[in-house]
Amino acid sequence: MRTQVAIVGAGPAGMLLSQLLHLQGIDSVVLERRSREYVQQRVRAGVLEQGTVDVLRDADVAERLEKQGHPHHGVNVQFDGERLRIPLSELTGGRTITVYGQQEVVKDLADRRERDGGRVYYEVSDVSVDGIDTEQPVVRFTSDGSTRELRCDYVAGCDGFHGVCRNAVPDSVRTTYERVYPFGWLGILAEVAPSSEELIYSNHPNGFALHSLRSSELSRLYLQCDPRDPIEQWPDERIWEELQTRLGTPDWKLREGPVIDKNITALRSFVTEPMSYGRLFLAGDSAHIVPPTGAKGLNLAVADVDRLARALTDRYHNGSTTGLETYSQECLRRVWRVQHFSWWMTSMTHRFDGPDSAYDRRLQRSQFDYLCSSDAAATTLAENYVGLAAV
Ligand code: FAD
Ligand code: DHB
Repeated sequence: MRTQVAIVGAGPAGMLLSQLLHLQGIDSVVLERRSREYVQQRVRAGVLEQGTVDVLRDADVAERLEKQGHPHHGVNVQFDGERLRIPLSELTGGRTITVYGQQEVVKDLADRRERDGGRVYYEVSDVSVDGIDTEQPVVRFTSDGSTRELRCDYVAGCDGFHGVCRNAVPDSVRTTYERVYPFGWLGILAEVAPSSEELIYSNHPNGFALHSLRSSELSRLYLQCDPRDPIEQWPDERIWEELQTRLGTPDWKLREGPVIDKNITALRSFVTEPMSYGRLFLAGDSAHIVPPTGAKGLNLAVADVDRLARALTDRYHNGSTTGLETYSQECLRRVWRVQHFSWWMTSMTHRFDGPDSAYDRRLQRSQFDYLCSSDAAATTLAENYVGLAAV
């Protein structure tokens, strides 16, 4: 089998890349180890930056997003029950974020690729990447019990944090930067109308909590927890009690309803450099992970893929390899800005245990007071949260 671009991973990065290339007449094949149903049911991110919505619109997959997505003009930050609304649009010249589930983005992309006859192989195994330092890379995989070979011009590693592509970059040229946080997030999806029209990030002495939403009937909520906690230790009653405690204010209460999805994710920061080697290009979580506090993981994946699609288009249409050569360096500028913002949001809103915990909490209080009293501080949060256009 042959294609121009072999794409490993059918998450948002891989599927969007395939669609953007298709619109430019560039052929790709996507290889995914999970089933289509599994990929589309995975509940993950929900906040899209305006730049992400623009890319999805350019990719011609924003029809449902435009009808069902919820544009937000503000976000709330809370400390010890005191709530501050940050007017995102007012502080950023009218920019917004849109709440629309990641699995809906993936579904829209998969439907669209299917309609256009795109080649996406689900439930493949044993994916391996060879010859990335030659002009004819080969991706081998097993599908329906037989071993197959995919010859290509370029390989896009969109296979997430646990994928295989990153390891195809030789150790001698690869550097990784990492921070593992001593906490995780317990996330639930609940069949109940959201209790607030806008998101609430709350720092409470018991730990962090986040109120988000998916629609007028679905709430999405998160709690800081021990990443090693077995999920059975968190029956629904305990989750609601903890959410009420951490999010409640004297004049505001959380609405409760049936929990329809529940999982625990560990928090980490991770970057691998460079993001390309020979004919292999990494995009999204295969190259970098951020703690979810800044709602950036999905948006960063889209920014990478948008750049990669442009670089490949320039290569195929104009014979220029400049975009491919500068891909890693250009992506990493945004990656590190987002690493910093995600770390900063995490530091400001989570409970840190340890010998300095009382000191840390005083610093968090001071940062919150500064946000409350300074437009400059609030603007820093706002412009990073809605997404910096020129990075
Ligand atoms: P992924 O979505 O991980 O897609 C990679 C795909 O590659 C997967 O479908 C995987 O099955 C496939 N794959 C892996 N290995 C192979 C292989 N060897 N062969 C073939 N296919 C392979 N971000 C937020 O902003 N907010 C959140 O609340 C949030 N929650 C998250 C919860 C979890 C459990 C995780 C893991 C991530 C979360 N994120 C969140 C981050 C966000 O979802 C990711 O940044 C986003 O999914 C990145 O997209 P991607 O396409 O790069 O990677
Ligand atoms: C959501 C997830 C996030 O990580 C975040 O910072 C805000 C919202 C969500 O799933 O809705």
